[in-house]
Formats: sequence, structure tokens, C-alpha cells
Amino acid sequence: GAPERVSPTGAPTGAPMSSMAQQGEYLTTAHGARLTNSDQSLKAGPRGPVLLQDHHFREKISHFDHERIPERVVHARGAGAHGTFRSYGTASRISRAGVFAEGKETPVFVRFSTVLGSRGSGDLARDTRGFATKFYTDEGTWDLVGNNIPVFFIQDAIKFPDVIHAGKPHPDREIPQAQSAHDTFWDFVSLHTEAQHHTIWNMSDRGIPRSFRTMEGFGIHTFRLVAEDGSSVLVKFHWKPRLGVHSVAWEEAQLINGADPDFHRRDLADAIEAGAYPQWELGVQVFDDNEDQSYQGIDLLDPTKLVPEELVPVQPVGLMTLDRNPSNYFAETEQVAFNPNNLVPGIDVTNDPLLQGRLFSYLDTQITRLGGPNWNQLPINRPHAAVNDMLRDGYHQSAVHSGVAPYRPNSLDGGNPFETPENEHPFIDFPAPVAASVKERARPQSFEDHFSQARMFWLSLSEVEREHTAQAYAFELGKCWDETIRTRQLRHLFAIDPALGHAVAQGLGLPDQEPTEAPAQDVQPSPALSQVGGTWPV
Ligand code: HEM
Repeated sequence: GAPERVSPTGAPTGAPMSSMAQQGEYLTTAHGARLTNSDQSLKAGPRGPVLLQDHHFREKISHFDHERIPERVVHARGAGAHGTFRSYGTASRISRAGVFAEGKETPVFVRFSTVLGSRGSGDLARDTRGFATKFYTDEGTWDLVGNNIPVFFIQDAIKFPDVIHAGKPHPDREIPQAQSAHDTFWDFVSLHTEAQHHTIWNMSDRGIPRSFRTMEGFGIHTFRLVAEDGSSVLVKFHWKPRLGVHSVAWEEAQLINGADPDFHRRDLADAIEAGAYPQWELGVQVFDDNEDQSYQGIDLLDPTKLVPEELVPVQPVGLMTLDRNPSNYFAETEQVAFNPNNLVPGIDVTNDPLLQGRLFSYLDTQITRLGGPNWNQLPINRPHAAVNDMLRDGYHQSAVHSGVAPYRPNSLDGGNPFETPENEHPFIDFPAPVAASVKERARPQSFEDHFSQARMFWLSLSEVEREHTAQAYAFELGKCWDETIRTRQLRHLFAIDPALGHAVAQGLGLPDQEPTEAPAQDVQPSPALSQVGGTWPV
């Protein structure tokens, strides 16, 4: 009888594109013609020359020539895993999002990453780690694109190219900052004092996690949750690892990175394969959505500030379990496209100027990285909710849209006006009031304090953690060859705390310096403050 029809990649014709084993009986061309030989090119006589006519050679080599896509401009190196988020129902009072309904289980895909290294860099670099979660909810995809450090280097997204240019490898030799001169990184950090808080977290043991499984995750920005009745609260998202938070010491990191640069990736995949599924509890700090959007003098729109958990406790809202490794790195971990724009009804943004800029950047970069605007059709990015957009055509369009009227309302395809009634859960942009004046490029006064939270972090460390942190500063600044930059940064460390400044100065063999500004006031979390209104029990 007739042989079974197979698709170009071996799956029976009509099988979903997402599950192609490429192990059909016959090797074929991409258009399905069977081949006899894929080992020798077509030549004029056994010893050549090779003929341009060899369509199989050209197809095979040309496809190979285009196998790589650009790596992410940041967070290029990562590892992913599938799992489930199970909601406790505790947040359903403050958010109408179905993902928070009691007992609701939502499939997730998580990608952990380093920020600055290229795709082939080592896992144990001193760096921030990405912690990005895609929730495939019934009401659309929600992406919580966070890091393992609760604050960020800059306050405004317009500075993102600057901080990344300063941290990426030097333009002349392309040697990463971690192994060579550190002038540009420390130049940026010392000239932008807002970066001091994030940097001290990086210099602490938090900068080199033991495992992805032992990292906290933070949404960083303040988000807005909207309840069924339209009322809103402000929240900060936290992931708490069930295994606790663990790091490695710098000396261990050096050894591990040399012996096994894939240490973190391997650890995650091995744990899941062995059935030791990592888990994180998702929690929220909840704040009143008041007019000035601040808490105890901390501007909630400033992403360089956190709110101490002693003041506003993190309240658990659900549990995430990662229990399945990707089966194809490229299709899943590489092609996944996270985007802070991916919000669902009940979860909304605030005016944090860093978040606002991110709402543009991810969509924009993915048009280049994933070759056009249709990456939502890639299996890993496909929403689990029904999609009925009016988007058409474009590079790598793989849907065959039918109908002649891709617009609403229309009278040809039966396209009624599209307003979804409120009781059917549409996404409603929260009607947040805005300040009257436009054309402001100024920094608000409430974004000016750059030292007191760095000091609070330093004071929160144990003796041995302080030692590690001072040693890290001394090591990294020791790689900065510009005397002016080193001294400028040292003065900031004296402003954070004279003991920190002194320890680092000693490590560098430099004299003590005058602090940049009068040392910041002690910020001591006071238990009494947690009694003050403004925190919401969920
Ligand atoms: C990628 C987190 C700020 C632009 C990422 C990823 C994470 C992340 C986790 C990797 C996602 C993945 O695994 O695929 C954060 C956090 C930020 C922040 C927590 C601050 C709170 C920014 C800003 C910009 C930006 C301000 C630009 C204005 C990008 C770009 C990518 C990226 C272009 C690459 C995305 C891709 O190629 O798919 N970020 N980021 N990020 N981020 Fe950010």
C-alpha cells in the first residue's frame, strides 16, 4: 500500500507542529521529497566540482547557516522549567484575577538567568539573577518578570542602556567586567548614587546564589491589584524559596565556575529529574493605594527602595512547584518571550518610571530577537486563553486566518462591537489620577535619598556577611584601575557606613576618605510601625 505520509520533519501530516520527533522512516527535503543520500554533495564526476544544482546541499547548509537567533541583549544566559502555581485564595479579596482564586492551579514556565554574561558565560558570576515567571492563566498570560534582588540600579528606564553599557564587556577587547578592568561599571555606579543600594546587594553573598532553587524572587516595582468591586491596593511581589536562601563564598564560586560553568543549570535540571521539585511561595506586601503612593516616607514608585518586611509583612498567596524540564532548550528556554505588558484583569501597573519604560522595551526587543511580531504563536508563548485578536500577516506568520474583515465592528464577517461586558472579566485599565503638568524631566524629591537603604542593608548583615561584602568591594574595586573612580566610590562607602568604607579602604591599601555626604540616618525597622494602618491583611 501507499507509504504513510509524513511532514517535513517526520511527524505524520497534520500532527501539531509542536511535537515533531524527526524520526520518520525516510529522510526528506523540507518540502517532503524523499532523499537517498545526505552524506555526499552532488558533483560533476566523483572528484568534483560541486554543482550549484544540488538543492539538498543548499537547503541543508542554508538552514544550518541560520540556526542561531540573536541572544537576549541582557539576561542572555538562562535555564527554564515548567510547573504549576496553586493559589491559596488569600489574594482573591484584593484582586479579581482568576489566578488568585482559591485552589486554582495555573501552569507556569520560569526562566532564571544571569544579567550581563553572554549565552556561553559561567553560572557563578557575581551578578543579579533574573527570575521570570509566565502564568498561562485562563484570562490571558500574566508575566511576572523579576530579579533575585528587591531593588534596581536606576530609577528611570531611560537610564537602562547606560547602566548596561557600563556593565557589559569593554568595547575594545570584549573582555567581561568580571575578569578584567572594572572602570566603566564603577564609573557608572559612583556617578549615579541611586545605584548604591542595588550594588551593595550584589557585593553581598546575595550576588552569588548557591542554586536557582535557593533564591528569592522579587517583582521589585509596586503593582496595583484591583478587586471585583473596582477597589485597588498597591503590592510588591515576593517569591520565597522553600529551601531557604543560600549562597556560595567567592572562593567556592571561582572553583565551581572553573570546574563546571553550568553548575546552576545542571542543579535545576538534575533536581527536577530526580523528583526533588523546587518550590516557592508567592507573597505580597500590601499597601493602601493612597494619593502619594508612599509608605512611611518611602516612595513606592522608586524602584531603588524596598519596604522592610518587618514593617509590612509578606503575606503568602500561593505556591509554585517546578516539576518538568524543557525537552528542547531552543524551543522553550530560548524562544520564551517574557513581557511586563502581559497583565490580566485584576493586576495592573503603577507609574514607577522604570516599569513604565519596560512596558515598551520587551515587546520592542522581541521583534528583533524573535524575527518579527508573531512570536506569540510560538508554542512556549501561546496563551492558554482563547485568542481573538485582529493581528494579521507579518514575518513568521504561521496562522492561516480566515475571513475578509479583520476589524471590529464589521458587517461582513459578523463582527459585533467588541466591548466585553464587565461581568465577563475584560481587562480594564485602572483609572489612576495623573499629575497635571507634562514635559517634566525632573527627578522627584522623594527619589533623592540614595544612601539610607544601602546603610539599612549593611546594618542588617551578620558579622561574616559584612566581611564578605567588604572583601567583595575591595576585590572588585581593586580591578578598577582609575584612581579617581575608586576614590569616588570609596567616599560613597564611607557615606553608607564608616566601618564599611574603612574595611574596603584597607583592602585597597588606600587611606580613609571623607564621606560623600553626611552619613545617612540610621534606619532601624521599628516593631511599633507594623501596628500602623496601611497594611492590609489578605
Ligand atoms: C530581560 C528583569 C529592567 C529591558 C529581562 C529578563 C529579566 C528582566 C528577568 C530576562 C527574561 C527572560 O528570562 O527571558 C528586569 C527587572 C528590571 C528590569 C527585574 C527592573 C526592575 C529593565 C529595563 C529595561 C529592560 C528598565 C529597558 C528599558 C530588558 C530587555 C530584555 C530584558 C530588552 C531582553 C528581553 C528579551 O530578549 O526577551 N529583564 N529587567 N529591563 N530586560 Fe529587563
